[in-house]
Amino acid sequence: MRIRFRLDGQSVEVDVKHTETLLRVLKDRLGVGSVHFGCGEGSCGACIVLIDGRPRYSCLTLAGYVDGKEVSTVAALARDGELTEIQKAFVENNAAQCGYCTPGMILIVRALLEKNPSPSDEELFDALAGNLCRCTGYVPIINAIRSVIKR
Ligand code: FES
Ligand code: FES
Repeated sequence: MRIRFRLDGQSVEVDVKHTETLLRVLKDRLGVGSVHFGCGEGSCGACIVLIDGRPRYSCLTLAGYVDGKEVSTVAALARDGELTEIQKAFVENNAAQCGYCTPGMILIVRALLEKNPSPSDEELFDALAGNLCRCTGYVPIINAIRSVIKR
């Protein structure tokens, strides 16, 4: 089947199989480098994208589902090479060591703060519950997010 959707503000059109995941289409067909394969089963958050503004695991989303929708990756956030506040805070707080989890983390935080600019710790931890980081540890990540909330 042929699907058409907007990817980071650009219209794209691609032929997909009915069983193909959005993750595979983004990585293998469209060359998106910031969406990562981790577990493949909705447990790690490395593959998160925003679909119509909502965070979704692209490893569990069939590509056909995004026909007519807006898909955003972390690449859509920076404007003219200028990082967003969330991205700057991750850099300033050393919240990305290998960076494998970082795009998914940043998209989750972005979606959370758009909905709730001043989340409690509980709401923050709940939002991050589906994102695993295996090297930085969570303290610098939480510090980065708290610094954005304070600003
Ligand atoms: S690769 Fe999708 S949640 Fe882990
Ligand atoms: S920065 Fe390496 S997994 Fe999170």
